Order: sequence, then structure tokens, then C-alpha cells
Amino acid sequence: MKDIIRMKTSLSEEIETMLNNQVKMEAKSSSIYLSMAAYCDQLGFENSSEFFFKQADEERQHMLKIFRYIADAGGTPVTPEVTDIPQEFESFKGVFESALEQEIEVTKAINKIVSVAYKEGDHASANFLQWFVREQQEEEFTARKRVELFEVIGEDGVGRYMIDQKVPDIGPPAEPAM
Ligand SMILES: [Fe+2]
Ligand SMILES: [Fe+2]
Repeated sequence: MKDIIRMKTSLSEEIETMLNNQVKMEAKSSSIYLSMAAYCDQLGFENSSEFFFKQADEERQHMLKIFRYIADAGGTPVTPEVTDIPQEFESFKGVFESALEQEIEVTKAINKIVSVAYKEGDHASANFLQWFVREQQEEEFTARKRVELFEVIGEDGVGRYMIDQKVPDIGPPAEPAM
């Protein structure tokens, strides 16, 4: 039965598994960001909370994008089970540090799939994943800039309040002039 299903897709088993792992990773990222949103809200950092709510939505969109790709390619997308979501964080700063670490891990995972896709000559998957390569470049850049706010502004006095004000202003890297 499995072989008959396989004949309907040019996705290799390895790529399909890696993509399904990525579905899970994006779903987990979404849940962790949701948890971060609640944590920031409890601390009274409303902008940061709002920001993490939006991030949670974005990660869910990433999850769906890959899920649909697997389905459209004739593969079998696996609905992810997400467990072990932290409900508490070390500190306001710790949240942003974890967010950066999480994005770096996602970048590594995406890069691995792209490498395998090229190795297997699966250009459709390699091409599809280019969007994620670009997205991760932005995500890492902006996550790093947010962590840097803690150094630039400092946490003393109204520092954390100021950091919370700045969080929504961090945009993607400037496009090089053409
Ligand atoms: Fe993502
Ligand atoms: Fe992300």
C-alpha cells in the first residue's frame, strides 16, 4: 500500500520526512511564541506581547505552507503533535534570547533540507524552500536586533519600558540599492 502511495509523488521519503519534521518545528515555534506572548503580557510589556502574538500567527502560516506543499506534491503531511512548551521564562531579556536561538535552529533545519533536496536533484523542493531561506535571514536579523536593544538601551530605570516601546519598530534589513 505504502509503495502505491509512493508512486504518486516525486518527493523522496527522506525529503518528505524532513519536511514533516519542519511542519512540527514551525508548529512548536508558534506555540512557544504564544507562550512568550502570555509571559510578556503578565510582565506588563504590551508591545512585546503583541509582537509575540503576531509571531505565533506567522509560524502557524509557515507550518501550513509546508503542510500544503507536501500535500500538493502528492505526499502525506503529518498533523503535528506539539509538546514540551515552556510556560515560563527566565526574564524579559531571556525571552528575546530564546527567540533568537529558536530562529537560528530553524535556519539550520531549513538549510539541511535544502542541501538534501539539491543532493537528490529535487529542484521543486529546493526552490520551494528558498522562500524560507530568505524568511529566516530576516527573522534572524530582526531577532538579533531585538536582543541588542537590551545592550543599547539598558535595563535600568525606564530601560525595559523603552525596550518594549522599541520592539515593534524593528524592521527587516534594508534592501541593497539597485
Ligand atoms: Fe518559521
Ligand atoms: Fe520564525
